[in-house]
Amino acid sequence: MASKYPKPNRGRFMCYCFIFVVFLCLFASINEVRFSGLLRLGRFAPSNETAPTRNESEDLRILISVLTLPDQYLRRHFLRLVYGTQTWEGAKVEVKFVFCNLTKEDQKVMVALEIMLHNDIIILNCTENMNKGKTSTFFTSLPEMFNDTSGVGPYPPFHYVMKADDDTYVRINSLVRSLRPLPREDLYYGFVIPCGSMDPFKHYMSGMGFVVSWDIVEWIHGSDIPKKHVEGPEDKVFGDWMRWARRGKNRFNAKWSMYNYPDPPSVCSHELWNDTIAVHLLKNQEKWIRTLSFFNHTHSLNPSKFYHIP
Ligand SMILES: *[C@@H]1O[C@H](CO)[C@@H](O)[C@H](O)[C@H]1NC(C)=O
Ligand SMILES: *[C@@H]1O[C@H](CO)[C@@H](O)[C@H](O)[C@H]1NC(C)=O
Ligand SMILES: *[C@@H]1O[C@H](CO)[C@@H](O)[C@H](O)[C@H]1NC(C)=O
Ligand SMILES: *[C@@H]1O[C@H](CO)[C@@H](O)[C@H](O)[C@H]1NC(C)=O
Ligand SMILES: *[C@@H]1O[C@H](CO)[C@@H](O)[C@H](O)[C@H]1NC(C)=O
Ligand SMILES: *[C@@H]1O[C@H](CO)[C@@H](O)[C@H](O)[C@H]1NC(C)=O
Ligand SMILES: *[C@@H]1O[C@H](CO)[C@@H](O)[C@H](O)[C@H]1NC(C)=O
Repeated sequence: MASKYPKPNRGRFMCYCFIFVVFLCLFASINEVRFSGLLRLGRFAPSNETAPTRNESEDLRILISVLTLPDQYLRRHFLRLVYGTQTWEGAKVEVKFVFCNLTKEDQKVMVALEIMLHNDIIILNCTENMNKGKTSTFFTSLPEMFNDTSGVGPYPPFHYVMKADDDTYVRINSLVRSLRPLPREDLYYGFVIPCGSMDPFKHYMSGMGFVVSWDIVEWIHGSDIPKKHVEGPEDKVFGDWMRWARRGKNRFNAKWSMYNYPDPPSVCSHELWNDTIAVHLLKNQEKWIRTLSFFNHTHSLNPSKFYHIP
């Protein structure tokens, strides 16, 4: 008798162990699926899934590149709110933040985190600088970055590339509507400098936000002119290249749909008004708030039981 008992017990014990292990495995695999599902959602939600409904027609593609600095985490957070909540029709628009080489240890983690979640950052091979060729490096790097060697993507990757400042509010729908009827070759578009001038063929477009067509981006990539002349105010330097190479036969002055914020008043500023593509020099929160309020940026917020915003 005594020798009979242990056997079935051991057998039962082994059986329980087996069931337990199977159960553990099942549990783990279910969780893994759920966990990776969460990750996937987290990563893509900002760009595709919960994004406001947009008619992202592929027949017009625009890259809005905001030149900024690695340490400007809060500014990027705010700009993602400002651009991520806009709706527009009839174009695919990508917003990317652009800066030079990281220089601090903490940036390697902080910026990597941002990229993992938002994937909207371009790090150029340069040392951070204002007027020593960052813009030139940016445009020169684009054709290789967006070179679609698989051949399945559309060409050009973008019809237009805008360079914008991080203190500029770009109203994407107005920009799309303004660019849609324009030529897609040899285009140089923006706010003409000097501020008093309305002649886009004389000088250059302000760095607050200018647009060029993709053929010009490719030309910059291949040409010697931009390589020889990089120092100076980036927008003026860009205008010099265009003039020297006789580029930008199609020029459009977006004044007064683009302008500096009305305070302080200057020849470059304008009252906020309906017909606006971009407002520049939003140097503090108050100016941003007044601008977003003026354009009813948050009016499309849906009513809900969960909040009340008067
Ligand atoms: C997000 O959009 C890209 C292309 O725009 C698409 O390939 C991808 O499947 C989308 N992701 C999700 C989760 O829908
Ligand atoms: C998207 O916009 C394009 C161009 O404006 C238009 O031709 C097309 O019908 C629109 N598609 C939808 C689903 O609204
Ligand atoms: C970055 O630029 C430097 C010269 O400024 C060059 O020596 C280096 O090879 C470049 N690195 C990459 C990864 O392109
Ligand atoms: C930028 O960083 C890369 C490596 O991350 C390095 O190869 C390159 O030389 C750096 N460029 C400059 C201009 O410092
Ligand atoms: C793009 O890739 C193709 C094929 O690899 C290459 O021939 C071409 O020079 C590349 N263009 C640029 C701008 O890098
Ligand atoms: C500004 O635009 C909005 C929406 O398009 C319109 O309702 C409003 O009447 C316009 N205001 C002026 C002053 O034109
Ligand atoms: C914002 O909304 C107000 C009230 O609904 C309207 O009078 C005004 O024209 C709107 N402004 C713009 C720029 O659409």
